Amino acid sequence: MRWPHIEPHLITRSLVPENQESPIHFFSLAAVTPEGFFYIRNHFSYPMLSEESFAVTIDGEVRNSLTFHYRDLLSMPSKEIAVTLECSGNKRARFKLKVYGIQWEEGAISQGVWKGVPLRDLLNYAGLKPTAREVVFAGRDCGTRTDMAGTYPYARSLPLDKALHPDTLVAYELNGQPIPYKHGYPLRLIVPQWYGMASVKWLRSITVLDARFTGPFQVVDYVYEPGTDSDDGKSPVTLVHVNSTIQFPMDRSLLDTGTIQICGIAWTGTGFITDVELSLNGGESWVSADVHRLPNQPYAWILWTYRWDVSQQGEYAILCRARDSYGNIQPAAASWNKKGYGYNAISSINVKVE
Ligand code: MTE
Repeated sequence: MRWPHIEPHLITRSLVPENQESPIHFFSLAAVTPEGFFYIRNHFSYPMLSEESFAVTIDGEVRNSLTFHYRDLLSMPSKEIAVTLECSGNKRARFKLKVYGIQWEEGAISQGVWKGVPLRDLLNYAGLKPTAREVVFAGRDCGTRTDMAGTYPYARSLPLDKALHPDTLVAYELNGQPIPYKHGYPLRLIVPQWYGMASVKWLRSITVLDARFTGPFQVVDYVYEPGTDSDDGKSPVTLVHVNSTIQFPMDRSLLDTGTIQICGIAWTGTGFITDVELSLNGGESWVSADVHRLPNQPYAWILWTYRWDVSQQGEYAILCRARDSYGNIQPAAASWNKKGYGYNAISSINVKVE
């Protein structure tokens, strides 16, 4: 008899467009999320690719408008960087005051090693004019929105300093292979430390503007809105908030007394994770977890573990909070906003030891 092969699957949130979360509780969260377990976040149906899709143009406030072909990029100096990609809607389902939008649990996050050419090099070839202010990236996917006439591409901008950061890449490889189609083949932007919406897939064009970009994915979506009717207090979604997830055990597990290896991940877009603390008594006291880093990969999540010796039967509230080198720490309650972005409250589970 052949032993049945059992493996986890993506968790479907919508099929058209495809939005699926990673089954992060059920595989080893090492440096690289295997392709089949990488979360998928799309606003539109997949784009059709043709010969033309292998070229990306640079124009706008540049001295020379240029077109780079996939082949050109493969022969240019490149970088390989491990980057945690997290959707800003990750954990939206956790807001107590419910908001509309995909009800992501904890799996709108994955990690991969991306290889590509620093965007800065491409912009330098084109030569930025002194008027350059923002850089807009358009994908090849497009569709309709209720707030826009006609069809509209997925397009996002970066301020000049982030566009010129040496680790902002026009990527062509994920984990040593061409980028999978669903994740942006053949070319995709990778913006470490920013939420995933900035990393535009199926990159078609790069346009340098002398003004702020006001496309709907920039100024309507991906904006923290306090929930009042006025525009006061609105701010764009940019850097990833310090955060953590308990991978094992799962919420509401029944466990035996003995030694339990609690484990998970922690990540941030501001600096690096300095420490992860656990509470095994609902927040009365905290202990430090062991932290395991990928060497020389500042944008990768860290794995943490804690050996819990538990002899007393009963119900336990286990909490986890991460802190980063900017002094940011996960708050007791996430900052509520109308569209439910950036949830990062202290992670918590309840378990029963029998
Ligand atoms: N790029 C394009 N062209 N179209 C999209 O819908 N979604 C963005 C970003 N880039 C998107 C895109 C969002 S919101 C996220 S979180 C990430 O891609 C998801 O990347 P993934 O599907 O490879 O995990």
